[in-house]
Amino acid sequence: MKITEIAESTYQLSVDVENILFEGLWEIPNGVTLNSYIIKGEKTAIIDGVCGWDGVPETLFSLLKELEIEPASIKYLVVNHVEPDHSGWIESFKKINSDFQILSSKKGKELLEAFYDLTENVTVVGDKDSFDLGNGHLLNFAEIPNVHWPDTIATFDQATGVLFPCDAFGSFGKCDGRIYAEEFSEEELKEYEKDTIRYYSNIVATFSPQVKSAIKKVREIPAKLIAPGHGLVWKDTKAIMDAYDAYADYQKGPARAEITFIWGSMYGMTEAAVKHALKVLEKEDITVHVHRVPEDSWGTVLTSVWTSTGIILAMPTYEFKMFPPMGAVLEEIGKKKALNRKAFRFGSFGWSGGAERELADINTRLNMGWEFLEPVEFKGTPSSEDMEKIEAQIKVLVAQVKETVNNKQ
Ligand SMILES: Cc1cc2nc3c(=O)[nH]c(=O)nc-3n(C[C@H](O)[C@H](O)[C@H](O)COP(=O)(O)O)c2cc1C
Ligand SMILES: [Fe+2]
Ligand SMILES: [Fe+2]
Repeated sequence: MKITEIAESTYQLSVDVENILFEGLWEIPNGVTLNSYIIKGEKTAIIDGVCGWDGVPETLFSLLKELEIEPASIKYLVVNHVEPDHSGWIESFKKINSDFQILSSKKGKELLEAFYDLTENVTVVGDKDSFDLGNGHLLNFAEIPNVHWPDTIATFDQATGVLFPCDAFGSFGKCDGRIYAEEFSEEELKEYEKDTIRYYSNIVATFSPQVKSAIKKVREIPAKLIAPGHGLVWKDTKAIMDAYDAYADYQKGPARAEITFIWGSMYGMTEAAVKHALKVLEKEDITVHVHRVPEDSWGTVLTSVWTSTGIILAMPTYEFKMFPPMGAVLEEIGKKKALNRKAFRFGSFGWSGGAERELADINTRLNMGWEFLEPVEFKGTPSSEDMEKIEAQIKVLVAQVKETVNNKQ
């Protein structure tokens, strides 16, 4: 955990977390940085406190001491968002400090009671409110519901121009002691963006329409610095807002000129055709993300799907349905609402088939709007004729993807 002064009397306390499943579910191969902020006006406020993932606040408290702040002297907690990655520490905090005031949204107040039994000294703040910490640190608030829970607000400090939007504009990926996006080279930022897209697609994606509304609102705020609850701080506020705007747009498709190829196979029948398909794709001038299920996690697959306009699925029939891990990942992709993709599926069956039916059912039931080319299904091993059909369909798909993306621009 470390402390950095990011603006006048404004300190970031950050902790890198690794080897966990975020939300108990999402793999984070490059970890995540959790950020908390202290503003020392005449009164001291902490925004979105963090501590170790285990909820032990001692590290946070020792850092506060370095800043010559006794934890017990903190009288104001700004809770932008009650999800426990930002508020879990309050449970321990209230054992050592019984005299503090919380600022949160109306919905946040309700959740604070449900999660931590906090009912007293909660001041509800919203779009029209301000709160004065003294020494010019006048706080304003912007309600940005559902980015990522219904309670979320962004806090803006008039004195420094720092906007604290919590989950909005956040990212996975450890910052390894670096604070600002500007400290990363262009190459490093490209790599880091993969973690930002992983975070966006795994955590925030479902709420893309609300992300659009939040961005519209936040663009009106004269923010000089965007200091989120996860990941890097942005001096180039436009860059991260534009990036998030684009990620939100990918929900409805088209996204980028990319194809995600998801496949699974039990005994190598479908796999034989996958190998051929990959050779065909190698000759095409298009970015392809390849994932085998169940080996690759939902989160990894979803990250690729989010930026892809085209999807290729390859899996056999299993007990009259799809190969199960494919069904599971597609359900999750559907629930995150990666909509209107151009798609093609091929795969093996033994006697009855059934994968196609389940695929069509998921596409309809979750209103995914994926537009499928005629599938190629084969009994047992694929024949050379099947291989040729697959090759032809892949070429059609690549052309469709390019055309769709070009028409968007
Ligand atoms: C557990 C299991 C269940 C299966 N269920 C079906 C089925 O319901 N209908 C069908 O047509 N084939 C079924 N099959 C046959 C497979 O679809 C067939 O063996 C196919 O070639 C497997 O392709 P793969 O080697 O790419 O996994 C099943 C196979 C297994 C092992
Ligand atoms: Fe959250
Ligand atoms: Fe969060």
